[in-house]
Amino acid sequence: MMEKRSSFTGKIGFVLAAAGSAVGLGNIWRFPYLAAKYGGGIFLLVYLILAVTFGFSLMCAEIALGRKTGKSAIGAFRALDKRFSFVGVVASIIPAIILPYYSVIGGWVTKYLAVFASGHVTEAANDGYFENFISKPFEPVGWFLLFIGLTALVVLLGVQKGVEKVSKVMMPVLIVLTVFVAVYSMFMPGALEGVKYYLLPDFSKFSATTVLAAMGQLFYSMSLAMGIMITYGSYMKKDVSLESSVRQIEVFDSAIAFLAGLMIIPAVFSFSGGDEQALGKGPGLMFVTLPKVFGGMKGGAVIGTVFFLLVLFAALTSSISLMETVVSIVRDKFGLKRGTTCLIVFVVSVALGIPSSLGFGVLDSVKLLGMSILDMFDFVSNSVLMPVVAFATCIFVGYVIKPQSLIDEVELTGEFKKKKLFTVIIKYVAPIFIVLILITSVLDTLGIMKI
Ligand code: PHE
Repeated sequence: MMEKRSSFTGKIGFVLAAAGSAVGLGNIWRFPYLAAKYGGGIFLLVYLILAVTFGFSLMCAEIALGRKTGKSAIGAFRALDKRFSFVGVVASIIPAIILPYYSVIGGWVTKYLAVFASGHVTEAANDGYFENFISKPFEPVGWFLLFIGLTALVVLLGVQKGVEKVSKVMMPVLIVLTVFVAVYSMFMPGALEGVKYYLLPDFSKFSATTVLAAMGQLFYSMSLAMGIMITYGSYMKKDVSLESSVRQIEVFDSAIAFLAGLMIIPAVFSFSGGDEQALGKGPGLMFVTLPKVFGGMKGGAVIGTVFFLLVLFAALTSSISLMETVVSIVRDKFGLKRGTTCLIVFVVSVALGIPSSLGFGVLDSVKLLGMSILDMFDFVSNSVLMPVVAFATCIFVGYVIKPQSLIDEVELTGEFKKKKLFTVIIKYVAPIFIVLILITSVLDTLGIMKI
């Protein structure tokens, strides 16, 4: 017999758990970097507009799909139309691919927290420290195991006692710490230039690619198109307002992304004397530049520790949502117990994560399309599979089951105020934009076109 389906206790639990999934590494290092690159204030404005239109509609659709069917991705699509089961299958593969490599990066974050907390700030600020660390055979694998082990422990405890409880503690702490570091950073000498650079619009950097970059970031940041919100929706009670929950998740996610910019850009400007190149790209910013910034500032050990603690919370709540989604899918499919399923998912993820971790050292020579193993997993899941699933979801909701069926689900708790917007976006606007994202991100990564 299958155990009864779990649920979140109420609205706050649901919103914080979903926000926990949405707020992650993407908010903290990717958003500030993109905002700096694409014209500061103008990027922020474009992102905000997209969040309240696209992000809002897609998130409503996914959560409603989950709550309506009471199933995770594969079951949800199948229950409504058998021909579309494959969309659920592809959506479910995504978190299974992301979880291992996301946990490798989570392991790096855990290591940096330990380094800062134990006062080894100057070492972490040395040239080559990060490259040396990730190329070791055993140490990063150890931190990866610790991080994914913690994730598995929370998932093992279940939806209410694990996922919800942890989110209710970590998310409020995360906000407080973020505001603290952002305020500190803005008052550093020379930081004001960074604040201006971040907030004032630079129209010369605005183009169609600004919109596409903002859109790609939005999908990733809101954990859309990978079955997570469908799964979390299936744990949502019918008497909780779906529309206002989505609003709150969005505000949470965008606010942390915005604050992350205020935390990072002014600090980097202050450190580098206003050199925007120092913002760099990708892991380099968080693991190379920021440790140097902390190393050079007064109270750097404390701020560095606080910073990596908040990043760890953000990463953990996201990896929990990834593992919970995979566990939920496997359980729905095979009717296994939570404990057994957690163990299987843990073992498989460890097996997949180890090569990603070794890809910077022992397996350095293994390159696929010129990318490391970790980057390859990232590319396949984010740049290829996610847009495909997002597109298929829009077509499915817009033309197969029809928007009205989900509007009815949202209206269980009162009028769906933005239902017109929802319908137009899902049927017409989103599919077109998603195809554009898919094409540009693939061409960009393959180096055929530079965005
Ligand atoms: N939304 C998370 C972020 O912004 C990333 C994430 C992706 C989380 C996939 C879970 C799953 O970093």
